[in-house]
Amino acid sequence: MIRTSRLPGFYQKTVQERRRLIADVTGLSSEQLESLDTRNGKTVSLAGKLRAALNGEAALTVDVADYMIENAIGVFGLPLGVAANFIINERPVLVPMVVEEPSVVAAVSFAAKLASEGGGFRTSSTEPVMIGQIQVLDVPNIEAATEAILAARADLIAKADMTSPSIVRRGGGAKGIEVRRLDTAVGPMLIVHLLFDARDAMGANAINTACEVLAADIECLSGGRVNLRILSNLNDRRRARAEVIIPASAFATSNIPDGRTVVRGIVEAQAFAHADPYRAATHNKGILNGVDAVAIATGNDWRAIEAGAHAYAARDGQYRALTDWHETEDGDLFGALEMPLAVGTVGGATKSNPVAQVCMGILDVQSSRELAEIMVSVGLAQNLAALRALATEGIQNGHMALHARQIALAAGATGDMVDRISTQLISEKNIRLERAQELVDQMLWSMADRL
Ligand code: MEV
Repeated sequence: MIRTSRLPGFYQKTVQERRRLIADVTGLSSEQLESLDTRNGKTVSLAGKLRAALNGEAALTVDVADYMIENAIGVFGLPLGVAANFIINERPVLVPMVVEEPSVVAAVSFAAKLASEGGGFRTSSTEPVMIGQIQVLDVPNIEAATEAILAARADLIAKADMTSPSIVRRGGGAKGIEVRRLDTAVGPMLIVHLLFDARDAMGANAINTACEVLAADIECLSGGRVNLRILSNLNDRRRARAEVIIPASAFATSNIPDGRTVVRGIVEAQAFAHADPYRAATHNKGILNGVDAVAIATGNDWRAIEAGAHAYAARDGQYRALTDWHETEDGDLFGALEMPLAVGTVGGATKSNPVAQVCMGILDVQSSRELAEIMVSVGLAQNLAALRALATEGIQNGHMALHARQIALAAGATGDMVDRISTQLISEKNIRLERAQELVDQMLWSMADRL
C-alpha cells in the first residue's frame, strides 16, 4: 500500500476504478468501498430510474452523483424525517428534514404543536432579489466613475438581463445597480452591486454569469481594473419572516402549572442571546438545525444559508440572536424570526436528486418564497423548542433517550436490541459506548447459548 493524495486523472476514471484506486492507497478492502452505495455503481438506465421512482425507491444513485460532482466514489446517506404539526398561514404543512442529530425532528414537531395553539405561523417575504458584486480597483477618479456607472444603469441592466432570458420571462432579472466606495488595506476601491431577482432559482449561477458579463463595461466606465465578480451570500434583500403568538397556557405542565413562568424564561433566554455573542452563536445554531435540515432535504445550498444567516446576525456590528421573543400585553409569548434565505425550487440538486424531488412533493410549494417562508417557520419553531427546554427541564432529558438509541446502534445493536439496550443505558444513567458494547456482547452471548 502506498499512501498518497496524488490521484492523477482520477476524475476521468469510472466510479469502479476510483474505488479500486482508493482501496489501493488507503488499505481499505474493496468490499468496504463497494458498500458506498446500494447499486454498486452499476449504471442505472433511465427506464430503471423511472421504475425505481414509481416503486418509491427514490434515491440518489452513484451514477447521478458522478454527474453532480467530480471524483465521485459514492453517495452518503443521512436520516430523512418528516416534522408534523406545522400550520403556516392557516395551511397544514408536513416538513421533510434531513439531519443526523437525534432530537431535532421530535423537538420541532413539539414546538409546531405549541405554535398551533395560537393559530400557527404567519409568514412574509421580500422579492427574491440577490446581490452580485464587482470589485473595481485602480480607479483614477472614484466620483466620476460612480457617476458614469450610475448613468449607464439602464444599459448595464439590459445587458445583464440578456444572460438569463428564462428568469427575465418569469418577471425576474436585473433590477438595479448600486455603487459603493470602500477604503481598504490595499487602497480605495469601487464595489458595484448588481441587484438581481432570481425568481424561483437560488440564483448563484445566473448572478455570477451576469457579473462576469458586465465586467468589461464596468472597466470602460470606471477606467479601473475589475478583480472579483461574484454573488454576495449576505443576501439581505432576499429575506423571509415568520411570526407566532403562543398563549402562555400552552406552556403549562404538571411540574410548571403557570405557563407564564416558561414565557418569562424564554424571554430571558432571548435577552441573553441578544446581548452575548457566545450565547447567540448557540441560539442561532439551534435555528439553523431546522433551517439546514429542510435545505438539505430540498437540495438547497445550506452553506450559503449559514453564511447569510451569520453575517445578517452581525449586521449592527455585534453578533446577535436572529430571533425576537417577547411577552405580549396579555402575558402570551410573541416570537419572530427574519433572516436572509436564498433558496430555490428549480435547478441544482433540487432537480437532480430524486429524494429532493420527493421532499418537494411532500412540501407542495409553488415558489422559492413559499419554501423560504416554511424554512423560516421551521427555524423559529426549532428555536422555540430549544429555549422552552433550556428554560425548564434542561436539554439533556429529552436528548438522552434519543442519544441512547444512537449509542446502542453505534455499539452494534440491531432490531429490538436497540430499544432494550437504550432503555437499560438510561435506567443505569450510564449512556456510554463502552457500556453499550458490554450489553450488546451480553445479549449476543445469551442468544448464542439458547441456540
Ligand atoms: C443543539 O443542537 C442546539 C441547542 O444548543 C440550541 C440552543 O442552545 O438554543 C440546543
